[in-house]
Amino acid sequence: MGSSSETQQEQFKRAAAEHAVTFVESGMTLGLGTGSTAIWATRRIGQLLRVGQLRNITGYATSQATWTEAEQEGIPMLAEELPRDLDLTIDGADEVDPWLNLIKGGGGALLREKIVAQASHRVIIVLDESKLSPCLGTKHPLPVEVLPFGRQSQLRFLQSLGAQVVVRHNQDGTPYRSDQGNFILDCDFGPIIVLPDLAAQLSARAGIVEHGLFLNLATEVIVGGRMGVQHLLPPREATPG
Ligand code: A5P
Repeated sequence: MGSSSETQQEQFKRAAAEHAVTFVESGMTLGLGTGSTAIWATRRIGQLLRVGQLRNITGYATSQATWTEAEQEGIPMLAEELPRDLDLTIDGADEVDPWLNLIKGGGGALLREKIVAQASHRVIIVLDESKLSPCLGTKHPLPVEVLPFGRQSQLRFLQSLGAQVVVRHNQDGTPYRSDQGNFILDCDFGPIIVLPDLAAQLSARAGIVEHGLFLNLATEVIVGGRMGVQHLLPPREATPG
């Protein structure tokens, strides 16, 4: 499964992403996710197009980074205005609960990722087993994308909701900017008990462009881990809260 220089976690990510690509069929229009897991799906799709095992695929990227990679792979890409809905999106996540709710945005692409997920008939999330969690907020802070205008006010608002807030920075110390030129605030709420309430509070606030809670958007999750690849579907019980 992969080269010997890959770490075990990298092998798990790759196995999950490549398994997801087995659900891709010729003629599909695909959302291409962002991050170190989803990128394996984009690479695999490019490979299958080159050997003729897939044909007539069109891609739509969730970030500039994915767009660049997809073009290098020779995947024909849809125009930015998204002229039709997508058959299938394969994307990663930072944390997944047992109801397949997600925290996303560790790579800063949450806004485009949510637009793409909402425009997709099927959304397969790929990850390694370390991302599975009993309750969102346990393992990963919640990324919140805010407009530069009035951003300190959003920081105080998020603190008033109980979050410890860190402004995301690049490695060189400059503030991180999303593909839209916005800032990302990483918000540690601890375990988030009532997900829809927090999502509604964040969505109602002017200046918050988007948040990384993806509730009821994943149609399935593929997990790579020590037990091999697992394919999870949402349980029948409603999401708590
Ligand atoms: C990008 O903004 C994110 O939502 C990624 O999909 C998520 O951070 C997972 O990334 P990795 O696969 O690199 O962990």
